[in-house]
Amino acid sequence: MTFDLVAKDPSVELAMSIAKEAGKLLLARPAHLEIDTKSSATDVVTQMDRQAEAFIVAQLSKHRPEDAILGEEGSNSTGTSDFQWVIDPIDGTVNYLHRIPHWCVSIGLKNIKTGESIAGVIYAPVYDQMYISSQGLGSWVIDQGVPRLLQVSNCAELNVAVIGTGFGYSSERRASQARVLSQVLPRVADIRRLGSCAIDLCLVAAGVLDGYYERGVNDWDHAAGELIAREAGAISSGLRGNKVGNDMIVVATSLIHADLVAILEANSADSDIMDIEV
Ligand code: IPD
Ligand code: CA
Repeated sequence: MTFDLVAKDPSVELAMSIAKEAGKLLLARPAHLEIDTKSSATDVVTQMDRQAEAFIVAQLSKHRPEDAILGEEGSNSTGTSDFQWVIDPIDGTVNYLHRIPHWCVSIGLKNIKTGESIAGVIYAPVYDQMYISSQGLGSWVIDQGVPRLLQVSNCAELNVAVIGTGFGYSSERRASQARVLSQVLPRVADIRRLGSCAIDLCLVAAGVLDGYYERGVNDWDHAAGELIAREAGAISSGLRGNKVGNDMIVVATSLIHADLVAILEANSADSDIMDIEV
């Protein structure tokens, strides 16, 4: 398969150039970061999150004024087309703040009528890795300028799988997530909490992680990454027959997805309760 995805999907080409510029803006961080908190003391936002979102929104509004926009830092506009851009200016803000390189700019394009993502671009500036996908056209990473087709791993059993996950920002949710983790960890090869849901989904697409699950993710965390993983061969869902949503996202290779879902369902991973009978 040759690399012609960008030529075939102008939305991807546009999102790539905007994500790259936003990445440059974010790499040029000032010495002093202004830190505010959102839903809890651990849910932080900096002036750089806001500046990057303002830049991305201005560019999208200029080039695609007919489309709606939803952004993590408060952007929410309606459009006249069937499309909505869903953006996270920094996914992995805690990493960004602590100078841990695992953070990215995430831009997804959704069809409002179907609710499905149709294009996704995730740029990790420190790694200079651009992950891209367009519905039906597969997923690629342009790794320091070199394009590579993405393909999930051939992991077939949970006990040899390395699974990514993430934690929310409220203590109550985290306590429940720790309870679920204590049941998942003994059944898998290992767990990673890398700190950016969007990049972690790209790592599933790249066959680096074998799966990912998290309760409490928002649209902007996975609008691009879930498509990138699925187009690379991953299966994605929520629990109990539900679609991916705020309750749960489970993305994994086709051979371990059902087993991972089963463990999560048995342990009520889609709720914040602490005491369950298994
Ligand atoms: C967070 C990251 C993290 C995940 C959290 C997200 P943010 O996004 O994706 O890995 O575990 O649930 O909220 O706050 O850095 O944009
Ligand atoms: Ca964010």
